[in-house]
Amino acid sequence: CERQDGRPFRQRLLVVANRLPVSAVRRGEDSWSLEISAGGLVTALLGVKEFEARWIGWAGVNVPDEIGQKALTKALAEKRCIPVFLDEEIVHQYYNGYCNNILWPLFHYLGLPQEDRLATTRSFQSQFAAFKKANQMFADVVNMHYEEGDVVWCHDYHLMYLPECLKKHNTNMKVGWFLHTPFPSSEIHRTLPSRSELLRSVLAADLVGFHTYDYARHFVSACTRILGFEGTPEGVEDQGRLTRVAAFPIGIDSDRFIRALELPQVREHIKDLKERFSGRKVMLGVDRLDMIKGIPQKILAFEKFLEENPYWRDKVVLLQIAVPTRTDVPEYQKLTSQVHEIVGRINGRFGSLTAVPIHHLDRSLDFHALCALYAVTDVALVTSLRDGMNLVSYEFVACQDAKKGVLILSEFAGAAQSLGAGAILVNPWNITEVAASISQALNMSAEEREKRHQHNFHHVTSHTAQEWAETFVSELNDTVVEAKLRTSK
Ligand code: ADP
Ligand code: G6P
Repeated sequence: CERQDGRPFRQRLLVVANRLPVSAVRRGEDSWSLEISAGGLVTALLGVKEFEARWIGWAGVNVPDEIGQKALTKALAEKRCIPVFLDEEIVHQYYNGYCNNILWPLFHYLGLPQEDRLATTRSFQSQFAAFKKANQMFADVVNMHYEEGDVVWCHDYHLMYLPECLKKHNTNMKVGWFLHTPFPSSEIHRTLPSRSELLRSVLAADLVGFHTYDYARHFVSACTRILGFEGTPEGVEDQGRLTRVAAFPIGIDSDRFIRALELPQVREHIKDLKERFSGRKVMLGVDRLDMIKGIPQKILAFEKFLEENPYWRDKVVLLQIAVPTRTDVPEYQKLTSQVHEIVGRINGRFGSLTAVPIHHLDRSLDFHALCALYAVTDVALVTSLRDGMNLVSYEFVACQDAKKGVLILSEFAGAAQSLGAGAILVNPWNITEVAASISQALNMSAEEREKRHQHNFHHVTSHTAQEWAETFVSELNDTVVEAKLRTSK
């Protein structure tokens, strides 16, 4: 099989993730339009180009009828995507419930839901059953499309039960699993009622990957403490079977961002933004509207900064672009109103008839508008309370080679391990510290900004999404060969 430029692809890859890179919007009985999905997983995987990849996942929409399913399958096939159709009840229990109300907050150290205990236990059980059922549905679609020699790469917490389903059906399948969130300390993971079953299932994979060494270490400790398996430098061993566990820090397609800055429409956009905010320093936040992103804390820190620095009040603006996400989960609905309330209060307090200090947009920006915004920003604020990696920080750095703006970065984002030396690291829970870091960033000398930027730019341009995928897949191939050699001895 060949790429568009005639070079052969390295290998066939079945990427399996809950979310397809495009989400479907129904336009008629048999007509669909496809919109790019938001989130770090999609951004990173779209930067992987050297494999002949098929992507299996959910198109983010309920399609109960056969006509609709056929038409959507056809539309997605053009993008090399294969849909898994999940009905409303499964989405409610598996996606909104077990994935986003239980695993997501737990893995980000926000704990398990605390409502009425009995009700939680009952819903926990039915949600876990739906989780397993959904994972089996993904496995069924993989099995339909699998060809011998394919690499099957499962992604994220939604599909923790998938390696087991796949290996039960075919022990020879090469299966890798990568987590895009933190894996928490074993003390946190052990609070999860289904803790052992999930670990065992993930261990059915040949290779298990995390963004950072710490997350990998937490996973291995959970397996040793909860399952009693042996942790080795290579991974986790149980009765002679080794599951390889390692860190594979993700990256972005940095060239795509750098090239975009040269496009006429992006230049035009940059010019407009410069005019619009002339005389003011631009601070930027770009996040999914998620409780892990620390958006209220960020805005409160900005308020504190304005309070303590009257000089800056009419000379700085914070643009917070927050794309709504998981809007059927009550915690996310509460967050939206909380953020609106805080922004309104601060704008009322520090705004004037002609200008407000915070521009908050609840929406997604297209790629070109986003690149332009990154390019005109003086200070980016990434204040996640926890974050697997955080690719927004990488995207900002990629677009800053002209301006050399400052990145304020949470020490609880995986990116702190790679961009820490160039960024100002902060504890997002400490609003006074974040406010002080804003002042430090706005007053930083050009020499120091240049030095910090060079460090980060070098990292972002040399640790790309493509390199991440190549390293993972080649490690997976090697792991399978080594395992065969071990068993044949
Ligand atoms: P997460 O995966 O938790 O969403 P990341 O920072 O790793 O966090 O990735 C977020 C991705 O989604 C980035 O590629 C970013 O550009 C994109 N994104 C986030 N918010 C917006 C937005 N408001 N408009 C457009 N893209 C967004
Ligand atoms: C994070 C998760 C991804 C998810 C993305 C967007 O990046 O790690 O798996 O796709 O958020 O969330 P959503 O629920 O809309 O898919």
